This record gives sequence, structure tokens and C-alpha cells, in this order.
Amino acid sequence: MEVLKSKKILQDFIERQKEMGKKIGFAPTMGALHDGHLSLYKTAREENDLVVSSIFVNPTQFNNPEDLEKYPRDINRDISILEKSGLVDAVYIPEVTDIYPEKTESSHYDFDGLEDEMEGKSRPGHFDGVGTVVEELFRQVKPDNAYFGEKDFQQLAIIRKMTEKKMLPVKIKGVPIFRAENGLALSSRNQRLDKDRREDSKIIYETLTKVNEWFRVLTVSEIKQRVQDIFDHQRGMRLEYFLIADEKTLKETDFFYKDRNFRAFIVVVVDGIRLIDNIHLN
Ligand code: PAJ
Repeated sequence: MEVLKSKKILQDFIERQKEMGKKIGFAPTMGALHDGHLSLYKTAREENDLVVSSIFVNPTQFNNPEDLEKYPRDINRDISILEKSGLVDAVYIPEVTDIYPEKTESSHYDFDGLEDEMEGKSRPGHFDGVGTVVEELFRQVKPDNAYFGEKDFQQLAIIRKMTEKKMLPVKIKGVPIFRAENGLALSSRNQRLDKDRREDSKIIYETLTKVNEWFRVLTVSEIKQRVQDIFDHQRGMRLEYFLIADEKTLKETDFFYKDRNFRAFIVVVVDGIRLIDNIHLN
């Protein structure tokens, strides 16, 4: 695996691959790699000649300096995970100045309102930061296909929107949520929960699975009440939000319309750690 530590080295590498006619699949990350990230590479492997990843803790998408500071960084561990997986041909590890040559700040985007829903409400400017770094990475890596997890479904929708609006020549591919055996969606934050709390947190996916059954027989408000009741009875857990939204607009719905697709979204705070999950309703 090639470890590309500057924009210049990356660009030389990409140029050579393009000359050979290689189709490039790209999955950006912020490191702290786990099996959820590996599932992106597996999908990319099947659909491309070459798989490129990036590890960059993007300062502009953090809402406060403390979160940025606390973000887990262990580049040697990450490189060794990538090496061992055998799934990635090259990893790009840029310096901040490779991405932000002048000021470390976001561009402003209009994602047609997608940025105002759910995560956008509690994290102002977050999606501008994500848009800025992903657009710049796309321009440098020049992928044919780019892979994002459905775990961050709003992020995936926003990147699709940006790619379409900016007419970037890359296909965006969503990858299903990779879960632990007990159903908990994998996340670098799960490491901060002790074993018992990780086990208790399986209630999140169990609830989403029930929501998918209730979806056929109950109203939205009945479902919301049941979900609230479940978490009112969980010690040390707080339901930050649960809602059902249209998959395209991400706008919350109060009714199920036959000709639209819906998804349930949930955020639960367990021992102060914010866990996020979602499920397609069918
Ligand atoms: P990060 O949190 O490192 O996630 C990188 C990618 O892995 C994202 O597309 C995310 O949705 C995906 N992912 C994480 N856990 C997953 C799981 N359990 N199953 C499937 N996919 C999963 O998301 C970011 O970084 C950043 O915002 C980034 C896009 C890199 C821009 O800085």
C-alpha cells in the first residue's frame, strides 16, 4: 500500500494511475478506523481497479475546538489496519495546508435545505465544513466512484447534492450501515462505552427494527410515543431525537404517503456519548 503524505505526491500517483486507465474508487475518512470503514473499501474493491482512502481530521467540520482536540488520532494503528486488510491500494494523509492552502475555513454551500434538518440543527456550519473538505479531496483524488456510509445518511445526501450542483465528475455510492453482532452501528465513539453499555445500546437498533414493523400499522405520532416510552425506561440514556423523514428531502413527516420513501432517524446519548443510527422503512 502506498502512503501518500502530501498533495504533490498524491497528484503524481493519481496521474500515473489515470495514464494506465485505472478506475479509481475513493473513501475519505477521519481515521480511528473500524470495520465500518472497511466495508466501504470492500464495496469499492468490487467496483474499481484501484481503491484510495484518505485520513484527515478536518478542522472546519468541528463545532468546537475541544471536540477537534479530543478526536482520536493514531495514524500508525490506522496504517497497519489498512495494510492488514489488503483492501486499499493507497492512503492519502494530507497536511492541513494541502487542503487549506490559505485560511482554514469553510466555503458556504446551499444544499437546498438538506443542511437545515436533523444534525444541521445542533451543528451549525458542520456541513459546510464537510462539503469543503470533500469537494477539495474530490478535486485532488479525481475518483470515478466515491463511497460514503448510510450511517451518516444526511452527510451522504448532502454530498450527493453538492456533487450534482457542482457537476463534479464522480459517482456517489451509499454503503449500508455495518453493525456489531448485537446490532449496534459501528462507530469510533463506541470505544468510549464500556462493555456493558455497548451491550445495553443494542436497544437502539432493536427499536429501529420495531419501528419498521410498526410503520405498517401505526401512525407517525403513535410510533414516536412508543419510541419515547422505550427510552424513558432506559437508565443513563437520553433520546435526543427520533423522527421519520422523507429520504429525498430529509424533511420530517407526520404522515406516510404511499409514493414516497421514508427513513427513521435516531440520536441517543449514552453516558454522555452521542450515538446515531437510522433505518429505511419498508
Ligand atoms: P468518518 O466518521 O471517519 O467516516 C468515514 C466514512 O465511514 C463515512 O462515509 C461514514 O458514513 C462511514 N462509516 C462510519 N461508520 C460506518 C458504519 N458503521 N457503517 C458504514 N459506514 C460507516 O464521515 C466522516 O469521517 C467525515 O465527515 C468525512 C466524510 C471523511 C469528511 O471529513
